[in-house]
Amino acid sequence: MAMTSMRRAVWGLWFGLLAACGSTGGSGGESTSEVADGTCGIAGCDDSVTTTVATTGSGEGGSADSGSTGGAATSGLPCDVADVVERNCLLCHAPPDGLFGAPMSLASAADWQVPAITAPTNKVYELAAQRIDDPVSPMPQNMVMSDADKATLHAWFDAGAPADEGADCGDTTTGGDTDGGVGPDALPCEPTHTFVAGAGDGSGDAFHVPENGADNLYMCFTFASPFGTEVQGTAWAPITDDERVLHHWILFRTQEPQVDGGAGPCNMPSDAVFVSGWAPGGQNFVMPDDVGLELGGPDNYYILQVHYHNVAHHADALDRSGVAFCTTETPRAHTAGVLTFGTTSIDVPAGATGATATGHCPSSITSLLPVDLNVLASFPHMHGLGRQFDTTVTRAGQDLTLVDVPAFSFDNQVSYIHDPPFVLKAGDSITTTCTYDNPGGTPVHFGERTEDEMCFNFALMWPIEILPPQYRICMTD
Ligand code: HEC
Repeated sequence: MAMTSMRRAVWGLWFGLLAACGSTGGSGGESTSEVADGTCGIAGCDDSVTTTVATTGSGEGGSADSGSTGGAATSGLPCDVADVVERNCLLCHAPPDGLFGAPMSLASAADWQVPAITAPTNKVYELAAQRIDDPVSPMPQNMVMSDADKATLHAWFDAGAPADEGADCGDTTTGGDTDGGVGPDALPCEPTHTFVAGAGDGSGDAFHVPENGADNLYMCFTFASPFGTEVQGTAWAPITDDERVLHHWILFRTQEPQVDGGAGPCNMPSDAVFVSGWAPGGQNFVMPDDVGLELGGPDNYYILQVHYHNVAHHADALDRSGVAFCTTETPRAHTAGVLTFGTTSIDVPAGATGATATGHCPSSITSLLPVDLNVLASFPHMHGLGRQFDTTVTRAGQDLTLVDVPAFSFDNQVSYIHDPPFVLKAGDSITTTCTYDNPGGTPVHFGERTEDEMCFNFALMWPIEILPPQYRICMTD
């Protein structure tokens, strides 16, 4: 393809994001990415993320090595409420104690009447009434509850969240093992490499998630490359160990030396690239037979960033979560990597609500594509002021949604799987719109620091090999 035009699109680009990752809270890792993966965000996720199964008494939430997302049937809830809760809450608020950092179960009517853990002067249902409308950290996380579902809950909350012990809701469960096939054992191949959280002291022990001070904790676990040569990933699976406190993780790779087996606060190198990630509901990912994911080689280092919520102050939270890869040293016919969409022209005035930044990958550029590009996943990325994100593809006057995140939250960043892949065609124009609220007194612009903003969609696609690395950004303002 004619690279001069592609260069025009790349003009003004910025390549090399710094992750200004604080030690706790608020700031995660950022990356440019040559590689992204699929974790399945709950919203926008085309493969079905079922929420609940009909078994109670699933034992201690803590052992979690079964990888189960908790069998949860509701009890004592009115049927309309049970239906809403199962679909929107029980993935995380599963009995007996909640999963993935959710500090309590919401499965029984009694669960809603006890004092809230972080605000004991409120009952759980009173806090829930606030959190489902909270603009900054809404419940449920990672997905948008319909207005009808919200109205059902509010009506129930207004009445004091009464139990309906006689309720016979029939089979309201959404069926099946929520994890059907998630985890290394469910891979169609034998994993060759894992990157997991650890104590960081050379002992090989699990990471002890502190009982106190870990309400919102980012930890980075670092690794020297385990690869003797350049490899491709063929499939990978999340390892979800202590599901009581594990909230999400992202694996990055970098060229900057890291301590092998290290554990500490996150100081993400500026060249870090996104490799793969997981959030509740995330699935295994198997590449098409003729496509390999760029994973790097001996010169790389890897950083596993894990976000923990130990809001419930578990004293015995020991975690070995992370990711297992099947790899191949024999390159496959095609390579999957990331093409970045978005913009660096960001101007969010002080006090603004709903300020937008828009970036285009114009049809004048994509018309040069010699083949279709198969987009496997999108990883939207903004910083703390980001509220909404979408990427729209315009083809022959028609708008097609690539990804739409109406309730973006920095602490809940996930990638969105396109299954089947979204096929980008020559002549498409791709528009990414980021929406921000800025409660602060100073304007915010594009930048690398946590207090600056970003607006990128790191889209994983193949065959990325048709684009040399320097052309893997397509954005004009
Ligand atoms: C994808 C996981 C997930 C889903 C789905 C989810 N939550 Fe949560 N919830 C969490 C996490 C993690 C926390 C703790 C961190 C926080 O407060 O943001 C939490 C905290 C809460 C709290 C505050 C508890 C306290 O004591 O501070 C309430 C209330 C709540 N959730 C209600 C709900 C309701 C109601 C739903 C469904 C409509 C829901 N959540 C769906 C993960 C989830």
